[in-house]
Amino acid sequence: MSRDTNVHEIADGIYRISTPLPVDVAPGGFTFNQYLIADEEPLLFHTGPRRLFPRVRDAVARVLPPERLRWISFSHVEADECGSLNEWLAAAPQAAPLCGRVAALVSITDLADRPPRALGDGETLALGTRRVTWLDTPHVPHAWECGFLWESHTRTLLCGDLFTQGGNGLPALTEADILEPSEAFRRPMDYYSHARDGGRHLERLAGLEPATLSCMHGSAWRGDGGKLLRALADAIER
Ligand SMILES: [Fe+2]
Ligand SMILES: [Fe+2]
Repeated sequence: MSRDTNVHEIADGIYRISTPLPVDVAPGGFTFNQYLIADEEPLLFHTGPRRLFPRVRDAVARVLPPERLRWISFSHVEADECGSLNEWLAAAPQAAPLCGRVAALVSITDLADRPPRALGDGETLALGTRRVTWLDTPHVPHAWECGFLWESHTRTLLCGDLFTQGGNGLPALTEADILEPSEAFRRPMDYYSHARDGGRHLERLAGLEPATLSCMHGSAWRGDGGKLLRALADAIER
């Protein structure tokens, strides 16, 4: 299979940038995905790790000039989420980090070369036609500062590590089941914190009734997102 970083539009103006990784990273391979929202103020969700920066930058350039990026956003502080944040800030002079308040307070104000725009829980930012709302989900699936972005125009939930699927030959967008493959991946290496309020946070996400789930690892998914998120909550509690 091709090891090239690939780009697919998975919702109107939302592009999945995916780099397949070999089997030594995880059995069956793995993927690191970023999502580019192309609008008046373009936003990149997840930067990818530093070593992938040249490949992700070239992939963004297939959609729009990387220097046009306005927001570099991510769910929580890890290398695949924000490892190349400063490389992006250097490449895009107008760009600022965009994250939740906890990430800004605890890490990003110090780690990033420019100050972040910190969004409170439920706060919305207009990008042009598209709008993103930050949702705090502390410890779901992991990390105190964790949260997700909801894009209401396309009804897309940028859901980070939720529904992480192994493998490196998956389609960009699928309507097939991703819960069982993601549970199969989670079983030997449980990356969930199983925090007390986990079910409540997943129910809040389900209540948005997403039409598209933009997963960081594996295929993006289209279908009844509310139903799938409730099924995930059930699987986690079992
Ligand atoms: Fe993570
Ligand atoms: Fe991740």
